[in-house]
Amino acid sequence: MRQKTTSRLSKLIKSKKAKVGIVGMGYVGTALSEACYNGGFSVLGFDIDPEKIIKINSLRKRNLQATEKIERLQECNVIVICVPTPVDEYNRPNLSILTKAASSISANLKKGQLVILESSVSPGTTRNLLYPILTSGSGLKGSDFFLAFSPERVDPGNGKFNVKNTPKIVSGIDEASLSLATLFYASFVEKVYSVSSLEAAEMTKVLENVFRLVNISLINEINQFTKKIGVDIWEVIDAASTKPFGFLVHYPGPGAGGDCIPVLPYHLLDAAKRSNVNLKVVKAAAAVNEAQPQKVVQKAIEVINGKFEKNGHNPKVLLVGVAYKEETADIRQSPALKIWQELEKSGMDVSYHDPYVGRVNGTLSQKITTETLSGHDLIIITTAHKKISYRTLVKAKKPLIDTKNILSKYRQPQGCYNPIIRKMKILVTGGAGFIGANLCRKLLEEGHEVAAVDNFITGSRKNVRDLRVFPKFTFIKHDITEPFSTNYKLRTINYELIYHLACPTGVNNLIPMAEEMLLTCSVGTRNILELARKTKAKVLFTSSSEVYGDPKVFPQKEEYTGNVDPIGFRSPYEEGKRFAESLILLYFRKYNVDAKIVRVFNTYGLGMSPKDNRAIPIFLRQALKGEPLTVHGNGVQTRTFCYIADLVEGLITVMKKGIGGQVYNLGSGKEITIIELAELILILANSKSILEFVERPAHDHQGRLPNLEKIKKLGWSPKTDLKEGLVKTIQWLQ
Ligand SMILES: NC(=O)c1ccc[n+]([C@@H]2O[C@H](COP(=O)([O-])OP(=O)(O)OC[C@H]3O[C@@H](n4cnc5c(N)ncnc54)[C@H](O)[C@@H]3O)[C@@H](O)[C@H]2O)c1
Repeated sequence: MRQKTTSRLSKLIKSKKAKVGIVGMGYVGTALSEACYNGGFSVLGFDIDPEKIIKINSLRKRNLQATEKIERLQECNVIVICVPTPVDEYNRPNLSILTKAASSISANLKKGQLVILESSVSPGTTRNLLYPILTSGSGLKGSDFFLAFSPERVDPGNGKFNVKNTPKIVSGIDEASLSLATLFYASFVEKVYSVSSLEAAEMTKVLENVFRLVNISLINEINQFTKKIGVDIWEVIDAASTKPFGFLVHYPGPGAGGDCIPVLPYHLLDAAKRSNVNLKVVKAAAAVNEAQPQKVVQKAIEVINGKFEKNGHNPKVLLVGVAYKEETADIRQSPALKIWQELEKSGMDVSYHDPYVGRVNGTLSQKITTETLSGHDLIIITTAHKKISYRTLVKAKKPLIDTKNILSKYRQPQGCYNPIIRKMKILVTGGAGFIGANLCRKLLEEGHEVAAVDNFITGSRKNVRDLRVFPKFTFIKHDITEPFSTNYKLRTINYELIYHLACPTGVNNLIPMAEEMLLTCSVGTRNILELARKTKAKVLFTSSSEVYGDPKVFPQKEEYTGNVDPIGFRSPYEEGKRFAESLILLYFRKYNVDAKIVRVFNTYGLGMSPKDNRAIPIFLRQALKGEPLTVHGNGVQTRTFCYIADLVEGLITVMKKGIGGQVYNLGSGKEITIIELAELILILANSKSILEFVERPAHDHQGRLPNLEKIKKLGWSPKTDLKEGLVKTIQWLQ
């Protein structure tokens, strides 16, 4: 009997008289139906979506039609199931669509039909889920019909590979099913490859997709690291791709989308869990992929940086490309949609442009014109379709996040945000110090070439060692009061930017290093300004709030001339900075050196010197050791404290946007009394220390408070509140 039905169906397939029913007319079903039709079969597509049916029937092809009427399956000889097998919101496989389709098929199943499952499933699904539904629902025995599994390999948007020229993997529940399925596919696919079991074929598809996800996640993870050390991942990928064997190229981006790559690993994980196997790599890859859209959102928040709310509207973001894949309209599981959702949750208004996707949830695709772009505060490229006018995007001079590196082909004007393009040669004096090392790290992370010059008078060798992980970092050991002609790297390299931070610091050093302070600020600053004059570098000098001395005016504006004792205890530092400021203005006015001055107020945070004798480091040391916190006087004197990351951001902002010859206050505008600070530190450090009131040094000032209006106009303001900054600092110290 089995032999008879096999040979009957075999004849029908060979003569192309077999009618093919395809259940599920999505991407896979549509591509398959066209291939079958072109191969000479008469095809009937089944779907519950009337729009899809109308679309197919409107083609008016006699042998390629679609219907909602599932009972018409009875007319078919071969039934191919192409329904989706998604995961639910908890990433658990949701096989309800497949189960439902299987039940409908079973109700119409006839003896001698061949059923093929193409949907992506974990090993065992065809045998343990589909087969029982087909037999129980139809009342047929297994030997009455044929059952096969052949995974779909449709690649939307792939101009080179289609159903016909992509080898087809085929398996069957028994020899007869395998031979019929092989015969069927071989009639319209160039190469058919059979495997020994349904499970081997199911696992082949799973492996293909998991392989992709692991590699995409790997490159996205590696990208996190290369960014940190200022190495361009795209350059690395290009270089690695020259290896003719063993390396398969994958690119970073906003995450993998589509119905297979991000989904199938969860089917596998579920199956592996049931078999008590822990697939750590697959789990990690899935987690990296889930987190990828959020990384883009974080970058967007960083770029937006609270700047646009002030304009009376939410920041407006344009997503360029919403399809998960280039040159397709396919938005299934698209990371762009996740980014969209998260941006909205963060209070941004999102619109999009996609030449292939006209409408998403009622929102229409915007045209890319100068007017549209001018109405947006940030552009994020999420899909690099060829049809997009990148030149117009770049010309808009708007902040731009390019997750696809497509803009590397375009020259970008100033003001365009693309970390890959803006690479400069930068010199940081005092780069081994607290602020200098943090600044170097940030600049290196942005991909710049950074040289730090330092003589270690108050800086740390460890800071330099830590920075050596960046290939674009150079250290120059040199005292900047000495002539630069003796140093090859200072003499020959044309730096474009110079952050001049070098200066011995610390209250304890005011007497022992008085001479070095004065000479570094005067002779050292002159050497730097001469270098800048020669190389046309822009200069930023870190002066100090100390130039205001013991101020009589609150808050201190940049115009305030201060209250300084020129021969007092603090004068080597205060007067050194004041002299340097004067010298800078001289070079600005007389020699056109583009130099600006930043008056830094109290700063704290990661990388502070352990010997630093200012309130925060002392209190933290004491609190963590359980020693009494020594409060000067009655502790009502106030201070402001700026977190290091904010300060570094401020320095970069002034370098980029500040005006030559101008002075900018930089610090926190929030005052706190010393006693409040001590109490806060006790709580945050969970310390049982007590407060001990000691005599206040005569030179200690009552308080300083910056007026930050001027720097805020450049778009900078402190973001980290004291509590948050202290918690981070405590964690670092511990
Ligand atoms: N940290 C603050 O709260 C604060 C406040 C106001 C101003 N500032 C200013 O910011 C800058 C950085 O301060 P920091 O806290 O990082 O101090 P820091 O002492 O940690 O760093 C200063 C660095 O300059 C180096 N240096 C000093 N003289 C030099 C010379 N002649 N040649 C080469 N290198 C030399 C030191 O070795 C040190 O590495 C300084 O100019 C400082 O005056 C800092």
